[in-house]
Amino acid sequence: MISGQHEGKLVLELPDRDKRYNLAITDHRVFLDPEATYLVTGGMGGFGLNILAYLTRVGARHITLMDRDPNSVRDRAWIYRNSNLKYMDEEVDIDILQGDVQSLDDVQRCINECKRPIKGIFHLAGTLDDRSMTEMSAESVDKVFAPKALGAYNLHMASLHLSLDHFVMLSSTSSTLGNLGQVNYSAASAFLDGLASFRRNSGLPAFAFNMAAVAEVGMASRNTHVLRIMRANGIPPISCVLALNNLDYALRCMPDSDHLITALFNNVPWTFNSPDYMRLGYLISNQRFFEDSTGKQLSVATVVDHIMEKVAELCGHDEGAPDEPLSSYGMNSISVAELGAFLHGEYNVQVSALELMTTATCQSLAMTIVHGTESGFEQTTDTEFALPLEIDDKGHVQRNRKPSLFASPLEDHFGYDDCMLRDDL
Ligand SMILES: NC(=O)c1ccc[n+]([C@@H]2O[C@H](COP(=O)([O-])OP(=O)(O)OC[C@H]3O[C@@H](n4cnc5c(N)ncnc54)[C@H](OP(=O)(O)O)[C@@H]3O)[C@@H](O)[C@H]2O)c1
Repeated sequence: MISGQHEGKLVLELPDRDKRYNLAITDHRVFLDPEATYLVTGGMGGFGLNILAYLTRVGARHITLMDRDPNSVRDRAWIYRNSNLKYMDEEVDIDILQGDVQSLDDVQRCINECKRPIKGIFHLAGTLDDRSMTEMSAESVDKVFAPKALGAYNLHMASLHLSLDHFVMLSSTSSTLGNLGQVNYSAASAFLDGLASFRRNSGLPAFAFNMAAVAEVGMASRNTHVLRIMRANGIPPISCVLALNNLDYALRCMPDSDHLITALFNNVPWTFNSPDYMRLGYLISNQRFFEDSTGKQLSVATVVDHIMEKVAELCGHDEGAPDEPLSSYGMNSISVAELGAFLHGEYNVQVSALELMTTATCQSLAMTIVHGTESGFEQTTDTEFALPLEIDDKGHVQRNRKPSLFASPLEDHFGYDDCMLRDDL
């Protein structure tokens, strides 16, 4: 499509297997113990029902759910009806035990009632009670902390004697990035992150999954206001499939990590000058800038490679030399627009579409990024946030920046000497 060879409409169809499971996991090997049980809290919620199918997919054959409803009207048939389990060939035993995770007695009793050895705990119980700081009350904090933070602590305490392979807690991006109106939820999620770290340091398994809002299922999907705020903050909701794939990746490939932030960043309003960007975006959203500013030399060769990598991704091929005009790669107007956005986002330069479609080469772009603006395109005209590049005595590229309002010791890590508190802002 990118090379403009197609005519008419394109219909993309998912492979059968992925469509059936609603999962797109490439490594299909099972890694959970079919003889053990996996204890899940919040398993009947929106994301919970999806995680049950996922756990089954990766080998679990016995799952025990804690249900806080004293009447327990939701049974195995209800779970099958409401989850992807109904599409799967694999059979799974599901035990539902009545118990509220915020009660240590309930948690201990449920753990004791499990018929098989517990090898994993997946803590998803949680609730929202969004409100502004001025309207925050002790009751609201308690309401949010009880299932999430106290629940996690109860599970931790009650399972200390068990030999677990997994202790997974559904945390949130709010714990690290914050979110408007969610100070109680952010703090409760941050507690999970801390508990994961504490358990790891104590030699116990633990993993906090810092998930962004999920678009189609769960608590955020039922709250359009939350989704809108997230979008406005440049963190759009993610799909359930992406969330599960990332969780799968973490469980398979990150045995030494205690958390993974799963989010997409899109048009973040944070700028290099804003306190938010310094605290968060610089570290999280733009690793390349971070590396540059911590002393890694930005060489023309590195930038050429980076741009060529992007061009290859946009054009669908990597045939072309650094000094060939980009126009000869077969770039179309869409890929040119994307490349322009990429250069702006990564290197803070504004290159016109005309230039990209006519004379620009990967080499010329890289030369200008590293050595200055002589070739006709400019550092961003967004003067407020412009970051002119300079080479320091050691040959390292430096980006000059206005001093910021909330300069903090964190900035020392960024290598800026000119940061200071400003009285005039
Ligand atoms: N969905 C998202 O966008 C998102 C993003 C980041 C993180 N998370 C986290 O992912 C987890 C699952 O979220 P979700 O979207 O599936 O939420 P959900 O649809 O609202 O489900 C929450 C589940 O937690 C259970 N729960 C609440 N309080 C409980 C308590 N005191 N004891 C036992 N269970 C309790 C609920 O039980 P009932 O069924 O009885 O109500 C429900 O099953 C939560 O921890 C959430 O914070 C979600």
